[in-house]
Amino acid sequence: MNDYNCIASDVKLGQNVRLSKFVNLYGCEIGDETRIGAFVEIQKNASVGRCSKISSHTFICEGVVIEDNVFVGHGVMFINDSYPRATTESGTPQTEADWKVERTLVKAGASIGSGATILANVTIGENAIVGAGSVVTKDVPPHAIVAGNPAKILRFIASSGELKAPVAVPFLDLVAPHLELEHELVGAFRDSLHTAGFVGGAVVGEFEKAFAAACDTTHSIAVSSGTDALRFALMACGIQPGDVVVTVPHTFIATTEAISQAGATPEFVDIDEDTYNMSTEKLRQFLEEQCAREKSGQLISLRSGRPVTAVVPVHLYGQMADMDEILALAARYGLTVIEDACQAHGAEYFSKERNRWMKAGSMGRAAAFSFYPGKNLGACGEGGAVTTNDADVAAKVKMLRDHGQVKKYYHDVEGYNGRLDTIQCAILLAKLPHLAAWNTARRDWAAEYSRLLSGAEGIALPHEPAWSRAVYHLYVIRTSDREGLSEHLKIAHIGTGIHYPIPLHLQRAYAALNYQPGDFPVTERVAGEILSLPMFPQLTAQQQARVVEEVAAFLATVPQKRMEGEENALVSAERTA
Ligand SMILES: Cc1ncc(COP(=O)(O)O)c(C=O)c1O
Repeated sequence: MNDYNCIASDVKLGQNVRLSKFVNLYGCEIGDETRIGAFVEIQKNASVGRCSKISSHTFICEGVVIEDNVFVGHGVMFINDSYPRATTESGTPQTEADWKVERTLVKAGASIGSGATILANVTIGENAIVGAGSVVTKDVPPHAIVAGNPAKILRFIASSGELKAPVAVPFLDLVAPHLELEHELVGAFRDSLHTAGFVGGAVVGEFEKAFAAACDTTHSIAVSSGTDALRFALMACGIQPGDVVVTVPHTFIATTEAISQAGATPEFVDIDEDTYNMSTEKLRQFLEEQCAREKSGQLISLRSGRPVTAVVPVHLYGQMADMDEILALAARYGLTVIEDACQAHGAEYFSKERNRWMKAGSMGRAAAFSFYPGKNLGACGEGGAVTTNDADVAAKVKMLRDHGQVKKYYHDVEGYNGRLDTIQCAILLAKLPHLAAWNTARRDWAAEYSRLLSGAEGIALPHEPAWSRAVYHLYVIRTSDREGLSEHLKIAHIGTGIHYPIPLHLQRAYAALNYQPGDFPVTERVAGEILSLPMFPQLTAQQQARVVEEVAAFLATVPQKRMEGEENALVSAERTA
């Protein structure tokens, strides 16, 4: 105590509290052994724990609770109202009754650097460090170091005090499944090495048989990639140079590359806002309103004047498009349906037409799969397959992948070097028995994500209609501040992806197709809002909990962001009672 201080009689001072000069305390509680610097003000209903240090010129307002062993630097400002106003709505000066005090909690062992501002309704976790000059707008996790305006997590400190990176969550873990199967995969390579069986051979046929069985088709033909699979499928189904193939603008460019490489031109219809797959209503409108039949019965696109001969629905993110509707429309207009099942190995669709669940790749005249390493069934390199129940289509794909030959050096047509090599087939054969369990794991993680995020405001979760059993190649959410959320997750060491940020009709590669912004509004809206969260079979509950926690932490900042936009929180006046 000294003559320069103003300490109200209602202040509860602990043992051995050391006060500097010009300290102003009223209605507050200070714990044993705590030191308070010069020009500090601590208001009523605020408390500071034991063994803490509050440096000079700091302002601790009503509603602030500081626990034990906390360091607060010089000139730290606490704020206790999210929406401070000088006057009421009717214009009269605010009184104490108008002021809504919000709580701020600084947990034990935390340190707050000089000149920091701590907004209302924030918890600073145990042992966390807030960098000097930061503006803390949301909760700081325990052991985190944050800095900046708004303060963001830089890294974490271990309880021993040394710096520790947060548990990172990769977007995709490709190492774990390969280590699990290391013995079998190395064995597959060794077999090829010992026999010099690198191209063709029994293993290729064995894999094709097994993959066809897994897809409920009579044939599967292994090829060099998903892109080639789709190109060969289109060509084998008789799509001719100059034809129009209808697909969606919300897909990977390989879909339309394959169409163009088959000599056809892609034309687009928009997607369904819930499933992100081809809108059957938009397909119907396209066929009815943007096409006309020639006398021959051939359907012609009014946009390009070319014959429309095929539809390629894409089973995006591992969920099948509404195939009954698409097949019915295609039948009505004499179109061939070729499924792009590159992201949908094992996905199922309940066909009302056939009254049973049907596998991706078994419903169109042919289908294309990709075995790119990150796919639900991935090779240790590039790969793909065509599936079909049509023996003629299968024979043509076999020819096309092998330089157009029916037997060695007898070429009926010019083909391609599009075979899948023996080692990849052996690797896929070793992995295929695990596909069902991996898909189940993906479905379980997706269900858990959806359960954990179900209450979160501001995001849309994936929608799985009753007729769908999706295999969640990707778990994609939507939010209006996609860039903010992905940046937040990146800082928290959580991997995300955007599939896909620029719709195909707006890609430079397709400028010649002459589509304009606004042509496919659902695709365009979705492309600006989607974010793919970490999804792979070996995800752990701990990793998923971190992702969900960080998504929730980001969403919790949204009201504060609104406030920052409406008024400058840094100049918001504090009530000094
Ligand atoms: C929807 C879709 N179509 C086609 C492909 C092409 O497959 P690949 O990369 O094996 O050529 C992919 C692969 O990413 C895809 O996601």
